Amino acid sequence: TTVEWEAASYDMGGHDTYMHKEIHEQADAVDRVLRGRIDERFSTVHLGGLNLDAREARRIRRVKILGCGTSYHAGMIGAQMIEELARIPADAEPASEFRYRNAVVDPDTLYVAVSQSGETYDVLAAVQELKRKGARVLGVVNVVGSAIAREADGGIYVHAGPEVCVVSTKCFTNTTVAFALLALHLGRTRDLSVRDGKRIIEGLRRLPEQITEILKQEEEIKQLAESYADARSMLFIGRVRGYPVAREASLKLKEVSYIHAEAYPASELKHGPLALIEPALPTVAIVPDDDLLEKNRAALEEIKARSGKILAVAHQHQEKADQTVIVPKNEDELDPILMGIPLQLLAYHTAKALGRDIDKPRNLAKSVTVE
Ligand code: AGP
Repeated sequence: TTVEWEAASYDMGGHDTYMHKEIHEQADAVDRVLRGRIDERFSTVHLGGLNLDAREARRIRRVKILGCGTSYHAGMIGAQMIEELARIPADAEPASEFRYRNAVVDPDTLYVAVSQSGETYDVLAAVQELKRKGARVLGVVNVVGSAIAREADGGIYVHAGPEVCVVSTKCFTNTTVAFALLALHLGRTRDLSVRDGKRIIEGLRRLPEQITEILKQEEEIKQLAESYADARSMLFIGRVRGYPVAREASLKLKEVSYIHAEAYPASELKHGPLALIEPALPTVAIVPDDDLLEKNRAALEEIKARSGKILAVAHQHQEKADQTVIVPKNEDELDPILMGIPLQLLAYHTAKALGRDIDKPRNLAKSVTVE
């Protein structure tokens, strides 16, 4: 029942903060977002609440994802998955920007509003504006029955369970998985092959176990965090799939430790930020084992040549990095779901080393329900 669910989820269960508890709940949370949705027979997924039949799904010419903060970053990952798996042009934009720019609302575009709380005013206002103009809007939402969930034409519940810490962790991860489901579903109504559908499903099934693997490295990550806690600023870089991961990791560190952090596409380093590199500015680099591996290695070399300190999050040891946190490899398209998880722990342990108020960072609220 609801009461039991709530009592169990608000119990700290031996963790010192909700952030720590929620980071460690992610394998179970991902299991929940997958449960009952995989359709082995057709190598696709069932998303009951979508309210979008196959004919309508095939008419979509673009996907526009709107959210704020962490949800916007999950949307950036979602947009890439939709482009890759369904070959539909897709992009994400902060809902807070979208609603003020009198955007062209196109009847062939599917709009997707992303929100943990389902109550963020900027997202709700964007949804209402879209609906007023006749657009179809789906919600990717955690809180069941929330304002955005009610306002949307259909959607996917993220099933992360209650998230108490102001800083989002498990809901981010589950939202990226929900987007993988949406991308697979759209892909399989179009040209994604049965073989690729199977490959993605197998990848999705591996996630909970791989999350557990990552979290086992907590002690080493804690030590790394302690060694970085005196940094005044940190740079986070990633390329294509790694870039939204870098954005989210940088936001997490800022929110909870108050260390200044900036995320940049690794490809843009030479267009400016290289000027900042020096021993006092550590770089966190997202280095997946995909077709861009060599390009990413070249970026690490550039940083090393300027005596920058590097922490790599990668699938294999990176020679140019001072330290590498190894993440288990999944399918290329699903790697971003996992690569940010060690960096949630990095943010948490950095904040802890600095004695921050982890569950309630200064100046922030869990959901921003006002203008
Ligand atoms: C998460 O770590 C942040 N506190 C914040 O960016 C948040 O993601 C944003 O305000 C959107 O909230 P929502 O997902 O509830 O809409």
